[in-house]
Amino acid sequence: MPGRTHLIALLSFLALHVTKGRAGSFEHTQALLTKYCTACHGGKASAGGFNLTGLTSPESLQVKQTEWNRLLTRVRNSEMPPKGSPAPALDDRQDMVAWLETTLRRNACAAGFVPGAWPMRRLNRDEYSATIRDLLDVQVDAAHGLPADGAGGEGFDNAAETLFISPIHAEKYLEAAKEALDFGAKDPKSRKTFLLAVPGKDIMPEQAAAKTVEAFLPRAFRRPARPGEADRYLALFRNAQKRGETFDHSVLLALNAILISPEFLFHHEDANTSADPVLANDYAMASRLSYFLWGSMPDRALFDLAAAGKLQEPAVLQAQLERMLKDGKSREFAERFVSQWLGTRELGRDIKPDEKLFPDYYDAETQGAIRYEPVLFFQEILATNLSLLNLIDSKFSLLTNKTAKLYGLKIKEANQQPKVLEFPADSHRGGVLGMAAVLAVSSYPQRTSPVLRGKWILEYLLGTPPPPPPPNVPALKDNHAGAPAATLRERLELHRADPTCATCHNRIDPLGFALENYDVLGRWRTEEEGKPVDASGQLPDGTKINGADDLKKALLARKDVIIRNLTSKMLGYALGRGLTLSDSCTVDQIAARVAQENYSAQTLIRGIVMSVPFRYQPGTIANTAVKEVH
Ligand code: HEC
Ligand code: HEC
Repeated sequence: MPGRTHLIALLSFLALHVTKGRAGSFEHTQALLTKYCTACHGGKASAGGFNLTGLTSPESLQVKQTEWNRLLTRVRNSEMPPKGSPAPALDDRQDMVAWLETTLRRNACAAGFVPGAWPMRRLNRDEYSATIRDLLDVQVDAAHGLPADGAGGEGFDNAAETLFISPIHAEKYLEAAKEALDFGAKDPKSRKTFLLAVPGKDIMPEQAAAKTVEAFLPRAFRRPARPGEADRYLALFRNAQKRGETFDHSVLLALNAILISPEFLFHHEDANTSADPVLANDYAMASRLSYFLWGSMPDRALFDLAAAGKLQEPAVLQAQLERMLKDGKSREFAERFVSQWLGTRELGRDIKPDEKLFPDYYDAETQGAIRYEPVLFFQEILATNLSLLNLIDSKFSLLTNKTAKLYGLKIKEANQQPKVLEFPADSHRGGVLGMAAVLAVSSYPQRTSPVLRGKWILEYLLGTPPPPPPPNVPALKDNHAGAPAATLRERLELHRADPTCATCHNRIDPLGFALENYDVLGRWRTEEEGKPVDASGQLPDGTKINGADDLKKALLARKDVIIRNLTSKMLGYALGRGLTLSDSCTVDQIAARVAQENYSAQTLIRGIVMSVPFRYQPGTIANTAVKEVH
């Protein structure tokens, strides 16, 4: 049993941990492994086929990186030791994880930049819908009948980990493609885009169909057609003609078959069969770019550059990037990235403010303005290349008359259309923490929760989510008649008096308390339940803060942690997969450059697009670094 002195030692350590992070050590890690793991993984015991005997020397951190990484993952996720076995204290575990992460990353980065796999993954729902829209030039949501995607990897719905195809999907895809094609064939503008020829005086049906299919196929597959490939689809046209079907019907049948081919439905790149990593081919690069920045297929300019073999030239890439960010389609990226990164996509889905308590939210215009504020704000930062630190604090936002009113601001210029507006002095706004969408998704439907908001900051901004709460923690009791009225703070203080609760809640709660002046909808308040709002608190490193402005100062002091987290989230989004240890070398490099260039937003995007994982394909020998980056 840990004695009282031990507990006090633990707590004072935790107080230091958040900002400084005690340097762990090889010895400390080995001591923990001996104490908590060797019974099942040492000597002859190899539970799960895992043995620690080879991991006792410092050299093993170089030569057995894979094994150490498996160990790190299981300990970080609190999966080992298994439930019921004696486990290291929370701080010991965090200490070991932090030390191992740093050490393994340093070792991995010493080798240079290693491109990870570009896993084959299905177009997700949004990508499917946007691709059909651009391919056929139709304004329908072709994906409306497709099932929703889960999230994987770095928490985004374009992660390879979750995007496979089930038999139910297959049928839905057939229907979705047919519906979109039929719709397009009836629309004169859309028809011109993909039905390029009809039999006329001088054109035989076969020729007309060939012209259409040969032009459609490379756009749909996002690469040139292979020899004989178009002919396979034309066979469907011929068969239909033999059965006496109309020309339109016969061609659409061939196009439909193209749209249910895995070559259309999947992000698919031909594997690199050489030993070393190589630059992705130009067509693959066109798709990597367009699905990252537009969430859709490449346009004609990208296809043309790919055909000319120019897309991997750094100057060309840079120019394309600027062009693509200016295009309205980048809104798609801003929306999908921001709403998933910040969790605001859940607003109105899994998280809804209580309708009786917060009727203001149920005004359609207000709801729309709340929802789009973070998205438009982010898009503005990107398009005009502002500092990313605006995310933490800013002098402006994209407001409508509804959000201005909600925030209690008198701004004459505000109207129905969201636009860039400066906050008046003492507005208590600026940055994502003053936005209704963020404040609402980090609340319960009926009330604010400093715990949820603190957790939100740790997870979404700082990228250090607190471990999940232990089971059997009683929920906060609502005040009931007869009981003395207690504010939320008083009730939470009681919990934090208990050291086992304090280990987590000292880190979480003070961050959230600083936002208590905002209600569930982000409206400013100075009183709650008849008592003045107390937004004061003390961070684990001893910093005293009071209210949102102090909190933002404290977060700005940790801006590099926030920017690194944003960088790894965006890299994970751009790659469509979870990040590996060698990707973290790329993240470090990009984040450092962003800091050097005054946190400029486009430096981040450029860093990602120019990075080894984004531009290269791995070779057949695992973990080979790119020798010379082009
Ligand atoms: C009571 C026995 C027990 C203890 C103690 C224990 N493990 Fe395990 N471990 C298992 C079993 C059983 C498996 C196989 C089942 C599984 O993977 O969950 C396993 C699997 C693993 C794996 C293999 C996972 C993989 O990806 O292949 C790793 C790594 C691991 N444990 C690490 C540890 C570490 C580190 C500790 C100490 C912090 C530890 N274990 C403590 C029983 C134990
Ligand atoms: C390992 C970290 C950890 C420990 C230890 C911990 N908690 Fe928590 N607690 C959390 C997290 C994270 C949440 C937010 C849960 C969520 O996401 O819904 C939470 C939520 C809560 C809430 C809900 C807050 C609200 O606004 O309704 C209460 C109450 C609570 N914890 C009390 C306790 C008590 C009492 C203890 C000690 C017996 C304790 N916790 C120990 C991590 C922890």
